[in-house]
Amino acid sequence: MLKKFSGLVKTILYGKQYPFSAKYISLSDEEYLLRKIIDQDIKELIALERDVYFGETPWTKSAFLSEIHSPIPHLYICIVTKKEEIAGFIGSRLIGNDTHITNIAVGTNFQNRGIGKLLIDEVEKFAIMNDCETLSLEVRLSNTDAQRLYRRLGFSARNIRKNYYTENNEDALDMIKRLEVG
Ligand SMILES: CC(C)(COP(=O)(O)OP(=O)(O)OC[C@H]1O[C@@H](n2cnc3c(N)ncnc32)[C@H](O)[C@@H]1OP(=O)(O)O)[C@@H](O)C(=O)NCCC(=O)NCCS
Repeated sequence: MLKKFSGLVKTILYGKQYPFSAKYISLSDEEYLLRKIIDQDIKELIALERDVYFGETPWTKSAFLSEIHSPIPHLYICIVTKKEEIAGFIGSRLIGNDTHITNIAVGTNFQNRGIGKLLIDEVEKFAIMNDCETLSLEVRLSNTDAQRLYRRLGFSARNIRKNYYTENNEDALDMIKRLEVG
């Protein structure tokens, strides 16, 4: 407990806020803008969640608000089409020597184009800038598509968290990627 608390204090005192500058990127012949998430995006992010989670919305407006305004160093970014539609987003926060991916989703019309990989790569840069040793995330045991992507990007299974998803008591696979530090 004490270790966890001192990790949190270290994170708040010494974690670097990430000066993320918006940038244009090209993927599968389409142009996108990658930028930080702002409050006005939240309604669209919840709609995107509804799209990918079969009508469910795991995160509420207040959950998004508290994450994007948290004093803990974090990176919440989204990828936007030329028509200003949010195609996907990722959230992450720093705890001690780990950057934890809290949320990632790519709209069903935009999947399998490399957007998920691009978002995770951006979080990895944030983690390395903050001298993290690991990247981590939880994923449903049944979500084998996402697990395949994470393994391809260098994550491996560390643990199973029993009944992690409270609405159906599904277990989570806790996955970790060790980063090259220095
Ligand atoms: C999991 C998720 C974020 C992945 O996003 P994505 O944008 O589809 O991911 P990518 O396109 O980078 O990779 C997906 C696959 O497409 C393939 N791909 C990438 N670019 C491609 C291209 N140009 N053409 C064809 N396939 C391509 C990748 O090789 C990858 O294959 P793999 O699954 O065999 O590893 C997305 O499917 C999603 O939002 N799912 C629903 C929500 C969810 O499950 N979130 C995760 C919670 S932990």
